[in-house]
Amino acid sequence: MEGVQYFFICCLLLFSESFADDELNTRRFPENFKFGVATASYQVEGGWNASDKSPNIWDYALHKNPDLVVNRDNGDVACDSYHKYKEDVALLKDLGVDFYRFSLSWSRILPNGIDDKISVDGVNYYKNLIAELRNNNIEPLITIYHWDLPQILQDAGGWTNDNIVDWFVAYANVCFKEFGNDNKNWLVFNEPKQTCQMGYGTAEHAPFINSSGVGEYICAHNLLKAYAKTWHLYNAVYRNVQGGRVGITIDSSWFEPATESREDIEAAERGLHFTFGLYANPILNRDYPAVMKSLIAKRSSEEGLEKSRLPAFTEEEIEYISGSYDFLGVNTYTSNMAKAENNPDPSPGSHQDAEIATWQPDEWERTNSSWLKVTPWGARKLLNWIKNTYGNPEIIITENGLSDDDSTLEDDNRIRFYQSYLSNIHDAMELDGVNVTGYTAWSFMDNFEWTKGYSERFGIYHVDFSSPNRTRTKKKSATWYQNLIKTKCIVDECIH
Ligand code: NOJ
Repeated sequence: MEGVQYFFICCLLLFSESFADDELNTRRFPENFKFGVATASYQVEGGWNASDKSPNIWDYALHKNPDLVVNRDNGDVACDSYHKYKEDVALLKDLGVDFYRFSLSWSRILPNGIDDKISVDGVNYYKNLIAELRNNNIEPLITIYHWDLPQILQDAGGWTNDNIVDWFVAYANVCFKEFGNDNKNWLVFNEPKQTCQMGYGTAEHAPFINSSGVGEYICAHNLLKAYAKTWHLYNAVYRNVQGGRVGITIDSSWFEPATESREDIEAAERGLHFTFGLYANPILNRDYPAVMKSLIAKRSSEEGLEKSRLPAFTEEEIEYISGSYDFLGVNTYTSNMAKAENNPDPSPGSHQDAEIATWQPDEWERTNSSWLKVTPWGARKLLNWIKNTYGNPEIIITENGLSDDDSTLEDDNRIRFYQSYLSNIHDAMELDGVNVTGYTAWSFMDNFEWTKGYSERFGIYHVDFSSPNRTRTKKKSATWYQNLIKTKCIVDECIH
């Protein structure tokens, strides 16, 4: 009983802590701190079969089975940024962003997946977008892969086929060669956890493969090798001439221990290692997190398997992957409570393998998304954990934002969300010494929110998906963000 009471008091404290306006950080972000906004190819471009572009895994899955998405929406046209990029850049210019984060569509650039044929129109689309940005003094921040694998490569097994390491590096090489003179900051992957766990584990994202605890780890293994090989390619061939930097964007919820017991503290830590550490540890430290290796090995042997379901890196691979980054992208949205699971589910799966129970208390403010509860304090804690676990790498927040429905342009909730998260991020920098150098709002405009279609809106610009023109309209949050970029101040007036 006492434990339960303690838990509710904690939640109440955390809850009130998050929303007291008077606790917002009233100092300016540093002069050289950069602000931007983000999108991703499949979510905004449309032009799904423009010129010689071939279908990606989302085109293929949603054309075959439209019911996978709310209202049978898809990204065929999306925001039509393929045709409206000049209008987009004009809005970005007005907003005043330092940079624009967007992603490249692999099957638009290489319609065969492999580099035997490079699409002139595909390459030109991005060259034009980059030139338009540069002409308006906006830095591009390019994500090479944001979940839209060419279907032709999925037909050969996609991220579970070892050959994908070389397919991907060949694609990245084309990107560096074609765009690297004009783009200095590269994110090789966006949120690999979603690519692997949801794409090849729980079948919630394309290619909708159900292989929890097996396919998802093979995917992670290949993706990490592809990542390191891409970084080394840039390092060896392009860095001297192009002078850019290469990193990866990793996401995780914050996991808050339910009590101060050792078991729950360790459980929360396990949650972080199984989500963030799976990708971050090999790159920023060495090899997979020890706790993942031992727990998955133990569970695999209990399942009667001879080998762990988590593939092993060779010593050489561990060495090669370790340290292969110039900066780290972090996507932060929400938190979970965590406690040790006393009756672990024996079935394979990265969630089950972690042997923790997680939940989001009803008291946490909801959004219209099923997974996103407003926990700004979690962003600060996550940043501190990354600093302490990986030796304070340079971090760019590459995504953070709130979804709502389509009902208002007066999105005060979103402004409050940004203020509270930015306040915590600023505290993490000033008070805790976390090395954050930039912040990216997700998203520039309403767009295709994966299986939620257009029912969940993250944009600071509204998009009218019923008009052929896909009219963009500024929301109140965009005006607020514009002022933030100008003043570097999240409240009406900063005192320092
Ligand atoms: C993370 C993903 O990178 C992005 O594609 C998605 O739309 C947002 N989170 C919101 O769910």
